[in-house]
Amino acid sequence: MKKLVLGLMSGTSADGLTVCAINPKPFQILYFKNYPYEKTFQQRLLNAYRLTAPYLSELHYQIGQRYAKTVQKFLKDFQLSPSQISAVGMHGQTVYHGPYDKTPNTLQLGEPSFLAEVLACPVVSDFRAMDMALGGQGAPLMPFFDQYIFGQKSPKLLLNIGGISNIAVVGKNRTPLGFDCGPGNTLIDLACQHYFNQTFDKNGVRAAKGTPDKILVNKLLKQKFFSQQPPKSLDKNTFGNTYLQRYFKSEAKSENPYDLLATLTYFTAAAVAHSINRFVPVTAQKELIISGGGCYNKTLLRYLQDFLPHLTITSSLAYGIDPQAKEAAAFALFAWLNLQHQINHCAHATGAVKNAILGKITLC
Ligand SMILES: Nc1ncnc2c1ncn2[C@@H]1O[C@H](COP(=O)(O)OP(=O)(O)O)[C@@H](O)[C@H]1O
Ligand SMILES: [Mg+2]
Repeated sequence: MKKLVLGLMSGTSADGLTVCAINPKPFQILYFKNYPYEKTFQQRLLNAYRLTAPYLSELHYQIGQRYAKTVQKFLKDFQLSPSQISAVGMHGQTVYHGPYDKTPNTLQLGEPSFLAEVLACPVVSDFRAMDMALGGQGAPLMPFFDQYIFGQKSPKLLLNIGGISNIAVVGKNRTPLGFDCGPGNTLIDLACQHYFNQTFDKNGVRAAKGTPDKILVNKLLKQKFFSQQPPKSLDKNTFGNTYLQRYFKSEAKSENPYDLLATLTYFTAAAVAHSINRFVPVTAQKELIISGGGCYNKTLLRYLQDFLPHLTITSSLAYGIDPQAKEAAAFALFAWLNLQHQINHCAHATGAVKNAILGKITLC
């Protein structure tokens, strides 16, 4: 029986853990499932950057244990046995990303030993550290996956809308380009929690009822980050609560929460469009392949299409990659390549001096 590789991803939205099983060669996603976090746990993760060492350390072990339990559930859900799993790639929970600090750093929590113990197979984790040691920003890592999957033919433009949005451009004989381009779902989620006691704006229905403040959005797009040349990456808090309070509560014309959601959604789409227009070569501007939870937000997609009428917007599903499974599948592939001693890194996207084999191996 063929051995599978698992990938585990919990992104900046901290909405849940996605577990994905792939066949690494030829690459194929076989199974995946998102295991949502309960609200209290999500809040703990989102606020983890404020913790002192004892609590941070405890959380690191709790996440590791939770991952191990969730994987056991995943195996049960898909009737798999631990002996069918050859390796795991585990991203961990980013609690802080500081590429512009005096000593650039990034922190992903989740002790991998628990998974290695439960599955008795290698667990590859902490993918971002070696990139930083090589002078990179530690992010984004997805352009390698995009190049691996989509890079053999005509140029492709990819957009992942997670907590943060990022873009990649790949294609045959092309140096991959990739960078974080602005907010993803973070601002929308925060406003939804505050005004509607909902974790997110399901299908964008609330934003659809409001009118965006376009003048405010155009003003915000003049901020330095948007014109900064790639490589560039973001901490989720850059477009977090402080940003929301500062620019949308004090400067927005309306106190109507539907208008606020429409404005935040419009801003998210505008930041993506601005980045594409500014940094993506015209030859790659044909089709926009989208993934991440934000691709289910219909209002966000409508705004995106309005901003980018020349692009055909396609879900990554059309290419056999479910939008929710993509990042987890990528970390499964990264783990497999690591264990084959093969490069799993696109230094050009992060600014590192050379390509490397990312990830540390935990054995039991
Ligand atoms: N049906 C939906 N409608 C609108 N937004 C959605 C929907 N499903 C998921 N999302 C958004 O996607 C986010 C999760 O996306 P995800 O790709 O998992 O991001 P991350 O990688 O940051 O965890 C949620 O927080 C929510 O904002
Ligand atoms: Mg998620």
